[in-house]
Amino acid sequence: LAFSEFDLSQLEVGKAVTVKWRGKPIFIRKRSQEEIEREAAVPMEYLRDPETDEERAIKAEYIIVIGICPHLGCVPLCDQGEFNGWFCPCHGSHYDLSGRIRKGPAPLNLEVPPYKYIQDELILMG
Ligand code: FES
Repeated sequence: LAFSEFDLSQLEVGKAVTVKWRGKPIFIRKRSQEEIEREAAVPMEYLRDPETDEERAIKAEYIIVIGICPHLGCVPLCDQGEFNGWFCPCHGSHYDLSGRIRKGPAPLNLEVPPYKYIQDELILMG
């Protein structure tokens, strides 16, 4: 695999991995059907930076985000916080399992990096 390709096929439902791409941590989390449905059902008016889950995940099973808090740049923790996604311990930003900011000081969602699927479970970053 080239360094910008990542094979998702070994990832189990409910598990997250962090990979490095262009010096940045990239979080890849495989979601269950229940988790996908929960994120898809979040009303836009609850969101500070309104984006649908569909806009953020090319394939709903995998949410892929850059692991840098848009507040002041700390690395959030996976599977933590009040919205079952990520939690940034620096100043307490809570993200949902779509990587959207739900509580705390961060102004924006965790950024979705550019990527595409080149096989069913193989992504190419960039
Ligand atoms: Fe994440 Fe401040 S850097 S909440």
